[in-house]
Amino acid sequence: MIILSIESSCDETAVALTRNGREVLADEIFSQVKMHAEYGGVVPELASRSHIEVITHLADLALSKAGLRKSQIDAVAVTYAPGLIGALLVGLNFAKSAASALGVPLVPVHHIRGHIAANYIAFPELEPPFTALVISGGHSLILDVKGYTDMEIMGTTRDDAAGECFDKAARVLGLGYPGGAAMDRLAKSGDDKKYPLPRAKVDDAPLDFSFSGLKTAVINIAHNAAQKNEELDLPSLAASFSAAVSDALVPRVIEASNAAGRGVIVCAGGVAANSRIRADLLKACEGAGKTLRLAPPALCGDNGAMIGCQAFYEYMAGNLAGSGLNAYATMDSGALFK
Ligand code: KG4
Ligand code: ZN
Repeated sequence: MIILSIESSCDETAVALTRNGREVLADEIFSQVKMHAEYGGVVPELASRSHIEVITHLADLALSKAGLRKSQIDAVAVTYAPGLIGALLVGLNFAKSAASALGVPLVPVHHIRGHIAANYIAFPELEPPFTALVISGGHSLILDVKGYTDMEIMGTTRDDAAGECFDKAARVLGLGYPGGAAMDRLAKSGDDKKYPLPRAKVDDAPLDFSFSGLKTAVINIAHNAAQKNEELDLPSLAASFSAAVSDALVPRVIEASNAAGRGVIVCAGGVAANSRIRADLLKACEGAGKTLRLAPPALCGDNGAMIGCQAFYEYMAGNLAGSGLNAYATMDSGALFK
């Protein structure tokens, strides 16, 4: 089964063609990151306008790279939630038009489920059940993935997402936007114990975490240094910060996998590319006797193939949409997500 999949939830326009979920025939992506970097963050209206400019071209490119004709497409899939509403609507409308013109089913895909599915592409033998840590610019979640389309949230952030926290801290350190990857590179030459940073706990919710105190602590360190005209040890602050984010996430994923009785742990989302988190997860999983499945960094960020992969399983489960499908900005509104 060949699926044309569309992803436009934030600042990447992505179109892919996949066969039977896990075989990627083409995976085209256009990143708007340079345009938004000028403003220090994603400007929603510019994002929507850019999606509309490139989406048709990307679909044509994907078809020609895969060597397929339009008539060979069996279904069209699209991210319908969560994300920037205007950005989502561009992809959704394109997908609806394509499905209608081709006379094929329309498959709605939840973005977070798509991130998890990136690991099915990277690991052909991977199957649920497992515990998933999804860490992206907009979300931080620990999930019990019971089946391809059956998952439950076990832990989440009470405030900022991990990626958002990386980006805000990086901005204060003058690393540009989005700063997660730059922080990661800088941290490699730093001392992770030089700056003591808080590790928050959420009362009565041991699997939930909070990053706002950490973000504020980094901002305060930077402002105090500026006021006193002291030079910051940027690599060490980046390393101390990365260690604090990792400490908030890694032990909780292990705890969640123990609570759910799962032996496999999967990590997904843009922040899953972080080298400190990857190394800590590996060490913790070895120590706890868990199998870790970590997709290569290229599959961690937003892409169209992950949406096509999850769409195959949604299709198999009968989760199809009609022409009235709408887009939703938030995690749980109108979602297939429970
Ligand atoms: O999953 P993603 O591409 O988009 C969303 O769905 O949000 O994640 C983007 C986030 C950004 O916050 C970016 O700074 C962060 O992932 N990121 C990283 C790294 N690479 C990307 N954060 C930390 N370390 C990295 N190496
Ligand atoms: Zn994402």
